Amino acid sequence: MQRTNIDQLSGNISNTVTIMGWVHNYRDQGKMVFLDIRDRSGIVQAVVLSDSPALELAKTLRSEFVISATGIINERPEKQKKLDVLNGTVEMEIQSIAVLNSADTPPFEITNTTIDIDEEVRLRNRYLDLRSIRMRDNMVMRSRTAKFIRDSLEAEGFLEIETPLLTKSTPEGARDYVVPSRVYPGHFYALPQSPQQYKQLLMSSGIERYFQVAKCLRDEDSRGDRQPEFTQIDMEMSFVEREDVMQLNERVLIDLVTKLYPEKKIQQIPFPRITYADAMSQYNSDRPDIRTDKNDPNLLAFCWVIDFPFFESTATSDNPDTLGSWTFTHNPFSAAMPEYHDDLMNKKNIGNILTSQYDITLNGYEIGGGSIRNHQAEALTAVFDILGYSPESIQENFGHMLRAFRSGTPPHGGIAWGFDRLIMLLQNEPNIREVIAFPKTRTAQDIMMDSPSTISEKQLNELSIKLSL
Ligand code: AMO
Repeated sequence: MQRTNIDQLSGNISNTVTIMGWVHNYRDQGKMVFLDIRDRSGIVQAVVLSDSPALELAKTLRSEFVISATGIINERPEKQKKLDVLNGTVEMEIQSIAVLNSADTPPFEITNTTIDIDEEVRLRNRYLDLRSIRMRDNMVMRSRTAKFIRDSLEAEGFLEIETPLLTKSTPEGARDYVVPSRVYPGHFYALPQSPQQYKQLLMSSGIERYFQVAKCLRDEDSRGDRQPEFTQIDMEMSFVEREDVMQLNERVLIDLVTKLYPEKKIQQIPFPRITYADAMSQYNSDRPDIRTDKNDPNLLAFCWVIDFPFFESTATSDNPDTLGSWTFTHNPFSAAMPEYHDDLMNKKNIGNILTSQYDITLNGYEIGGGSIRNHQAEALTAVFDILGYSPESIQENFGHMLRAFRSGTPPHGGIAWGFDRLIMLLQNEPNIREVIAFPKTRTAQDIMMDSPSTISEKQLNELSIKLSL
């Protein structure tokens, strides 16, 4: 049977068609039954008249039943036409119905938006929640945006390359999620906090331009703009300077907004740049909200933040150049700004060294960050010396990077966008859970799947794990 999508009905006046979808709404008026039927493309109003052979069955339908309905598409009388909604000028007169599946009474009504429903109930029944128009639209725009970015980067010569999920800890600054190895008892993989090391190793591999829609995992407290598992648009480029990376990213973002969100206005092009010091003194924040009108939901105020300090003191030592009393502010793989390269190599003037890090902010959120990297082994070693890592620990944790850098690694740099945050802002949503199909709760649970959960004694034994709870 040929199925017609619901958004194609207005072009089918006087035709008999079959649609398949969900009972969005039903009103039994005794002699006839009105139904709103929904599929992924839209909703149509349908009527089962008193002389229709489908009337008896229609009376047994309930919300969210899955049906196939065959009928004729009629033009609505002039007075009942609604020109501004899909199918506002037509109505379907149903002649036959087949029930493809029944449905329990849903715990909440699937309306245009479910934002006011208790979030725990929504998350427990996420498959229902995702049927709402608003959530569907978020998924549609997320998918379109990802495709747009893929196409844009491919046109700029990037290759999309997947990097492993079972990997080794990267010093991104958060706690790792770890996975026990069965084959090597007592040994663990770490899930990546980002593909940072792999993407740099791809530059050592001569790939030159890499990107990935990358899952990243960080065991940190969730917030409105933070999830334990989130998505980055991650990229890395060889033979570039800071300006090249910033300009390419700015181009893609402007193009994306113009093509996919034409109703939105970018406050300032080229994106303004502010130093970390100025951001802190003027806005008391390293992700300043520079919107000129905070009530305008369609205003996008992108801003670059640059010139961050490379290191932050962790000790109240008298000698500011003491090695080991420093932590990195952003990314230990970053290069210093060229004018501070000698200070880095000499491990002097540490607190004043500026990194090549650039963050991009949008309406007060950090939506991305990156840097030009140290591509020479000695410079990376200098960073780890300042951080206080012993030579053995540098070798153990980063020996593979140092070896790769000694194999002829080109100068390179990159950036990663927080994809969930970007979509949240483009879709005017209040938090990133609204734009992630299956997010975790604030307490890092998937309450639909009931995860995390215990595992069997047998599994624990296989992994040589004894619990000490
Ligand atoms: P960074 O740690 O700054 O950089 O991450 C890049 C961007 O990812 C987003 N982000 C998050 N989004 C949701 N939930 C989280 N828990 C979360 N943590 C970060 C932010 C942030 O700007 N490897 C480097 C990138 C690079 O240097 O190329 C990195 O991961 O929007």
